[in-house]
Amino acid sequence: MTDRIREIAVLAGDGIGPEVMRQGLRVLQAVTEKYGYAFNLSSALIGGAAIAKTGSPLPPETLELCDGADAVLLGAVGLPEYDQDPNITVRPEQGLLGLRKALQLYLNIRPVTIFPSMVEQSVLKPQVLNDVDFVIYRELSSGIYFGEKHEASETSPNASDLCAYTSEEIHRVVTRAFAAAESRRGQLCLVDKANVLATSRLWRQVTMRLAADHPAVTVDYMYVDNAAMQLVLNPRQFDVIVTSNMFGDILSDLASAIVGSIGLLPSASIGTGTALFEPVHGSYPQAAGKDIANPLAMILSVAMMLEHLGLSDAAADVREAVRRCTDKGIGTSDMHPEHECGCSKMGELIAHMVADEDFRLNVGKKGAISDTII
Ligand code: IPM
Ligand code: MG
Repeated sequence: MTDRIREIAVLAGDGIGPEVMRQGLRVLQAVTEKYGYAFNLSSALIGGAAIAKTGSPLPPETLELCDGADAVLLGAVGLPEYDQDPNITVRPEQGLLGLRKALQLYLNIRPVTIFPSMVEQSVLKPQVLNDVDFVIYRELSSGIYFGEKHEASETSPNASDLCAYTSEEIHRVVTRAFAAAESRRGQLCLVDKANVLATSRLWRQVTMRLAADHPAVTVDYMYVDNAAMQLVLNPRQFDVIVTSNMFGDILSDLASAIVGSIGLLPSASIGTGTALFEPVHGSYPQAAGKDIANPLAMILSVAMMLEHLGLSDAAADVREAVRRCTDKGIGTSDMHPEHECGCSKMGELIAHMVADEDFRLNVGKKGAISDTII
């Protein structure tokens, strides 16, 4: 264990972002008290909140802060007023996409596990769901999201989005996915559309080449349309799914329906620059300010951050606290509509559990959170 202070950039963002972030930070505070790890939290603007104050969804000072940090925690970006007008050119999402690109976060890791207490809540049948445990490795800084765009105009009613990949961009993601498969159940599934798309055929070539170097891993190749169906019919068949930016975005929302709520899925984005941790869910503006948002995806993203920072003991405690809470049937209304447990109550419960002496796996010195924003 080291005593150094870790710099965390906190970007709460829009909609429910600030309230789920508050609960994530509460759990982080419990970790500092228990283990003596010290975090220096500094907040910055992103998304719609940043546009409102500065005109830009990713102000330079936000990027600078993230660049110099040990990790970035992000709530959510997006506001409905921007969705209703297709002619708007500055959008909250550009903040997040710009940050991913600037930090060269080329890989987004989205673990999908079902809590036993959620089996009955999912729209799928229990026999399909028991023990679902897979992870989506989504390419994050290239593909159709970042290819050249041509916007339609009154004089030219055509639009296009280029989907381009280099073999290096694919290689670095698939290499990580093979390593993950080796440390898990040894199964990798490349999801693509190689019967139609040239970029998908390149994904296959690169993956086939890497497969030869990883004999312990069984590799499957699945078209994305079939993968969407297979995820619903038999999600247990998957261990590690590796896929492009767009397909990963779509399939991870589908995966959230398997586990019962999108409010449960955390993610880690890693690459060349500072790693970023954020829930898979969006800003859910209709719920903002009502204390009904599910903070578990944010809290589990904090656990992924702790793991990344090498603080595995604390990460394990946070995950265990979430598991115990959900085992008791405690959850926000998206999880258990018959019970009323608000966002802040959930955060309080998990933080208490993490801080509990009986829960202690390791003993640390007193830590501190300074410059706390919330
Ligand atoms: C996600 C989100 C983002 C994406 C949006 C907010 C730009 O849906 O992280 O899954 O499409 O990547
Ligand atoms: Mg998405």
